[in-house]
Amino acid sequence: EFRINIAIDGPAGAGKSTVARKVAAKLSYVYVDTGAMYRAVTWDMLKHGIEAEDEISVLERLEALDIELVPGDDGQRVWLSGQDVTDEIRSLAVNRTVSRYAQIEGLRAKLSASQRQMALRKGVVMDGRDIGTTVLPDAEVKIFMTATVEERARRRYREMPESEAITLEQLEQEISQRDELDRNREVSPLVCADDAMVLDTTSMTIDEVAEAIVHQADRKI
Ligand code: C5P
Repeated sequence: EFRINIAIDGPAGAGKSTVARKVAAKLSYVYVDTGAMYRAVTWDMLKHGIEAEDEISVLERLEALDIELVPGDDGQRVWLSGQDVTDEIRSLAVNRTVSRYAQIEGLRAKLSASQRQMALRKGVVMDGRDIGTTVLPDAEVKIFMTATVEERARRRYREMPESEAITLEQLEQEISQRDELDRNREVSPLVCADDAMVLDTTSMTIDEVAEAIVHQADRKI
C-alpha cells in the first residue's frame, strides 16, 4: 500500500485541525497537531515561571520535557511528562504567549525533529505553520488554509470553553496579534510554500474543505 504525507499550514483558526482530523480519518492516516506541542511546552513554561525572553532557561527546561501525542477516540490527546494536558493547553494564558515561545530557534529545532520522526513511515496528516516549508518539505500534498480574520475569530469563539471570559472582538484582536508574530518571526515563519495549494475556506464548509484535500491526496496515492 502506497502512503503519502499531507502538510496543512495556515493562520490561527482557519479550521486546520478539524479538517486535518477528518482527512486523516477518511484515509486511515495518523493526525499530528504540531500546535499542540508548542502549546504543551508553553503551558509548562508558564507553570514554572520561565519567560520566553529567557531562552537559556527555556531550552534547559525543555530537556526535561517529554511530549507525547496519543490518538484517542475523541481526538488526539496530549501528554506532557506523564500528565494529560489536552484541555489545559487551550487556555487563554497559553493562547496569549505561545507565539513568543515558538520564536525560539532551539525549541523549534527540537520539536521539528520529533515531528519529522513521526512522519518517517508516511501516512501522516500534519498541521501547523511550517510543515510544508520546513518540517516536511517533501510532503506529497501541501495545503495552505486561510479565511478572513473575522471568520477565524468566529470559529475559535465557538470552540472556546465557556469559563473563558472573552468577547469576540478581543479574540479577533488576539488572533491578529498571534498571526503577526507567526508571520514575522525569523525562524520558519508562517508563509505559504511555493508548491502548496491555497484554500480560502471563508465560505466553505468543513466537509467541502476535507473533500478537496482528499481529492488532492487521491491523485498521488
Ligand atoms: O495551531 P495552534 O493555533 O494550536 O498553534 C499555536 C501556536 O503554536 C501558533 O500560533 C504558533 O505560534 C505555534 N506553532 C508554530 N509552528 C507550528 C505549529 C504551531 O510556530 N508548526
